[in-house]
Amino acid sequence: MSRLTAAFIFTIVLWLLPQAIALGSESRSGAPKTAAPLAPRVEALVARMTLDEKIGQLNLVSHAGSIDGQLQSVRSGKVGAVLNVVHPDDIRAFRNAARTSRLGIPLIFGLDAVNVLRIVFPPPLAWAATWNPALAEEAAEAVARESAAVGVTWTFAPMVDVTRDPRWGRVIEGAGEDPFLAAAFAAARVRGYHKGGLATAVKHFVGYGAPEGGRDYNGASIPVSELHDRHLPPFKAALDAGSETVMAAFNTVNGVPVSANRDLLTGLLRGRWGFDGFVTSDYNAIGELVNHGVAADLGEAARKALLAGIDMDMEGNAYASHLADEVSAGRVSVEAIDEAVRRVLRVKFRLGLFDENMREAPPSTPDESWVRGIAREVARQSMVLVKNEGGMLPITPAIKTIALIGAFADSDYDSSWYGPAGLTKPATETLHDAMRKRLAPGQKLLFAKGVSDPCGKSFADEAEVVRTAEAADLVLLAVFEDCEMSGEGASRADLGLSGVQQQLLDLVAATGKPVGLIVNTGRPLALAAADTKASAVLITWHGGTEGRTALAEILTGERTPSGKLPMTFPRSVGQIPVVYSQLPTSRPPGHDRYTSRYVDEEVTPLYPFGFGLSYTSFSYSDLTLASPRIGRDGVLEVSVRVRNTGKRPGHEVVQLYTRQMVASRSRPIRELKGFAKIFLEPGEERIVNLRIAARDLGYHDDDGRLILEAGAFRAIVGGSSTATLAADFEIAGE
Ligand code: BGC
Repeated sequence: MSRLTAAFIFTIVLWLLPQAIALGSESRSGAPKTAAPLAPRVEALVARMTLDEKIGQLNLVSHAGSIDGQLQSVRSGKVGAVLNVVHPDDIRAFRNAARTSRLGIPLIFGLDAVNVLRIVFPPPLAWAATWNPALAEEAAEAVARESAAVGVTWTFAPMVDVTRDPRWGRVIEGAGEDPFLAAAFAAARVRGYHKGGLATAVKHFVGYGAPEGGRDYNGASIPVSELHDRHLPPFKAALDAGSETVMAAFNTVNGVPVSANRDLLTGLLRGRWGFDGFVTSDYNAIGELVNHGVAADLGEAARKALLAGIDMDMEGNAYASHLADEVSAGRVSVEAIDEAVRRVLRVKFRLGLFDENMREAPPSTPDESWVRGIAREVARQSMVLVKNEGGMLPITPAIKTIALIGAFADSDYDSSWYGPAGLTKPATETLHDAMRKRLAPGQKLLFAKGVSDPCGKSFADEAEVVRTAEAADLVLLAVFEDCEMSGEGASRADLGLSGVQQQLLDLVAATGKPVGLIVNTGRPLALAAADTKASAVLITWHGGTEGRTALAEILTGERTPSGKLPMTFPRSVGQIPVVYSQLPTSRPPGHDRYTSRYVDEEVTPLYPFGFGLSYTSFSYSDLTLASPRIGRDGVLEVSVRVRNTGKRPGHEVVQLYTRQMVASRSRPIRELKGFAKIFLEPGEERIVNLRIAARDLGYHDDDGRLILEAGAFRAIVGGSSTATLAADFEIAGE
C-alpha cells in the first residue's frame, strides 16, 4: 500500500465516523437504511410468528449433502441462517426458498470468510505482524467483497482471542498475545469486513484463547481481573466498531462452559456493555454441553444455552428439536424465545436483508488485481526478519550462486485455500520462479527439493541437498509448518520444525555454507536449534497467493522487511507461557539459584514480542512527555525522535509501553499502550507523537471494576518490547 492510499483511508475513516453516528443504531453504514424505526417492525413480525417459526429463526444449519431437504426446511420456516453455502446458484436457491416461506423472512448466509474466499491472504496472525491496522482493514474489505459477490452476508470473524500459548493451533487466527494490539486489529477488521459488505461475528467470546496446556477445546482458568484486562478488550473494540453478532466460545472458563454462562453472555455482554445484536453458538457447542457434564441431555442443553443468552444454535439441532418441548413443559418461557428472535430479526433488518434489491443483486466481484495487490502488501509487511548476521540478507548481486532448498520453494501449495464456490485456485507463483525473475545477470539459482513434500515429512534426496549446497555461495532453505498443523484442532506439544526439516537444516549447515532460513509458519515455533544453524532467519507466516512473490522481493532487497512479532517466540516449549507483559516476581531472574529462572534454560525468549529487524536501522532519542504529571481524566502525550540511520528507506514500528511502578496489586513489567508504523528515507527523521488517556492505564479488580490508582508510572519507547528509552511520569491523586 502506498503512503498516499494509507492517508486516503485514514481520511475516509475519519470522514465516515460522523455519518455512522448519525445513522444511530438503526442501520450500520453501508447497509441500506430502514426508513421506519426498527422496533415496531420487529414487534409486528414477532407477533405474526408461530412458535415453530420463532424457533426456526434461531436455527443455524450447515450446508451439507443434498440441498433439497434443506430447502424444504427453509420453506417451512425451520431455518433462520445457513453456513458454508458458497455457490451462487445454491445461495439463490436458498434465498428463493426463504422467500416462499409463510412469512418470507430472509436467511443470513454465514461463512468463515476470514482471510480467503478466492485469493488467499496471509492468516490473521500475519496481519497483526504488519502492525498496520489500516492495511488489515483493506485486507478484510477485499476478502469481504469477494465473499459478498457470491452472496455471503455474514463472516465468522474476526477471531480476537488473545493467545499466549503457541501450542494452541488457533493462534494463527488472531492477533497474538497482546490485548492492545488485538483490540486495534479487531476494530480494523470489523470496519474492513463491513466496508466489503459483510456482517461480522466477533469470536470466540471469551477465554477460548487460553486453553490449559494449549490443547484445543480445553478449559481455561482466568481470574476475573485478567479476563477484563487481557481477554475482553478486543471484543469491546470489535463491538464498538459495530460488530452485529458475537460467537460464543466452546470451552469452559473457570469451570462453566461459556455456551451456558449467563453471567458472561447476559450479565456482561448485554447488561454491562449494552450489546443488542445476537449471539450464535459455535459449531454444535450447545450439544456439547452434555459432554461438558452440565446438561443431562440435548433438551437440558438447549434450555441452559437459551437462558444463558445464546440466540442461535449453530448446527447443534438442539433448539430445533427441543425448545418447543421445553416451552410446553414450562421450563422455557415464550418471552425468552421472543427475546432471542427479536435480536436475530433486528440484525436482519439492520443488514437490509428484507430489502428486495439487496436480495436480488449481490455486489459485483472485485477486480482481481486490486485484491492481489492488497494480499501482496500484507505479505510484504508481515514478514519478520529475526536474525541477519553480517547483513546476509538481502542477497546482493555479488553473490554469484544461490541454492534454494526445500520442497516448499517449488510449490504453489496453499493449505488454507479450500476452493469455495467451485472457483479455480488462483495462479500462484512459486518462490523458485519469483526468485529466478529477480536475479541479476550472471547470478545462478540452484534448486534441490530435499524433502518429499512442502511440509518436509521425509527426505527426498539427501545427497542432492549436500551437492547443491556445496556448489553455492549461500543457501536459502525454506521450511514449512503445514496448515494441517495450524488452526482448529491442531495443538502441538512440540514446537520444533516439523518432520525431518531440522535434520535437513543440520545437513545443509554442515556444508559450512551460510544459511538463510525461511520459516513458513502459522504460529511461533521453538527455533533455538534452528537459530544456531542459520545466519539469517525470516518468519514469513503462510504467505498465501502472493506470498512467494512478496518473499522474493524481500530476499532480493526489492523491499525491506518491516514486520514485528505479535507473539513471543520461545526458546523451548518448557518456557510457555513466555510473554513480554509478565508480572514482576519477588526474585527477578538472576544468576543465583534462588531467583525466578530455569536451571536448564534461559528465561528470556528467543525472539521477543514487538521485535523485527530491517535492512536499514533506526535510532530513538529525545523522548519527551508533554507533562510529567497528568490528572485522572488527562492524557499522556509522548513524543520521540526517530531517525533512519541506515542506507535504505524503510518502515519502523514505534512502540510505546508503560509500567505502573507501585500499585495495590503487582502490575506487568510493561504493557503496550500505543504504536505507529512510519516510513523514513535514509537520513530522514521524524518526531512521533503518541497519546494515551489516563484511564487506559488502569486495571480491573476481582469484580471487573476499572481501577486507576494515582502514583508513579514509566513510559518506555522503542522498536520492540525490549526497548530501553524511558521517562517517568505520575498520575495525580484527586
Ligand atoms: C469454529 C468457529 C467457526 C465454525 C464454523 C467452528 O468449529 O470454532 O470458529 O466459525 O466452526 O465454521
